[in-house]
Amino acid sequence: NWFLTNYIEKTIDEIKEKVGDQKVILGLSGGVDSSVAAVLIHRAIGDQLTCIFVDTGLLRKDEDKKVMKNYGDHFNLNIKLIDASERFLTNLKDISDPEQKRKIIGNEFVAVFDEESHKIKGAKFLAQGTIYPDVIESQSVKGPSAVIKSHHNVGGLPEEMGFELVEPLRELFKDEVRKVGEELGIPHHLVYRHPFPGPGLGIRILGAVDEEKVKILQEADDIFIEELYKHDLYEKVSQAFVVLLPVKSVGVMGDERTYEYTAVVRSANTIDFMTATWSRLPYDFLDLISSRIINEVKGINRVAYDISSKPPATIEWE
Ligand code: XMP
Repeated sequence: NWFLTNYIEKTIDEIKEKVGDQKVILGLSGGVDSSVAAVLIHRAIGDQLTCIFVDTGLLRKDEDKKVMKNYGDHFNLNIKLIDASERFLTNLKDISDPEQKRKIIGNEFVAVFDEESHKIKGAKFLAQGTIYPDVIESQSVKGPSAVIKSHHNVGGLPEEMGFELVEPLRELFKDEVRKVGEELGIPHHLVYRHPFPGPGLGIRILGAVDEEKVKILQEADDIFIEELYKHDLYEKVSQAFVVLLPVKSVGVMGDERTYEYTAVVRSANTIDFMTATWSRLPYDFLDLISSRIINEVKGINRVAYDISSKPPATIEWE
């Protein structure tokens, strides 16, 4: 593709010119935008780029290992893995209000990133995977929907940090970012991942968050995503995940009565994430998800499927 190779070459030249022999840091989340930005910048300046990956303890199952393998081993990116899960979980203890949870997670992320970035001596530039729709959104007057949830996009860092910005994807739409990613050799399944909210599982565990609930949700969510891929359904839906309710109900397993949590399976189809419909997943598929989650995840004995559209519901539950 002429346009893409041209874009990549032009951008690599621009990055080299701007950065010179200085150091650049980048907050790598494992999501599409920051990953494509990281690989592109690495092409331009190699080991002058250091990526910081913050494990908030609220990520999908094995996300830290996957990021280190996919981008550290495979692309040779220099990644500092920061396990900050204890800090996040401690600060979230007994907090059940969704907006308060978002604030705590957002602030903690900035604090951790700030600490770590200052350990990289002499870094002058901060790279971000900002894409064109982010630029537009930050310029537009926010409508009422903007105040329904405060979308602290983790990765959006305050200007006061004092770095000069490198944003090589600023002119691109999401589908173009994906194409650039594939052109750079990032595997298809990574470039077509569903979006994942900054506050992560912190807003998918309703109410107070603790380590046990995180473990339970990670297992359930992993089963759902794995089966979506296996049945070739992952790319037919826009966003799919499991939510953990703090509600226990009675069930029966063998001869035993159980009293465990309820998981909600959520899958939405949408173009712009402003409106969405629930995915018409096949009944047999839902049946498989339900049996696997209940049989394999200790702590869940009931699975519900969310059949709400947006509006009036939202895609996430908090
Ligand atoms: P809702 O739940 O408002 O979500 O229908 C629309 C899209 O936004 C994502 N989302 C977030 N992303 N920080 C983020 O970075 C947040 O606090 C947040 N809340 C929702 C959600 O996953 C969906 O893609």
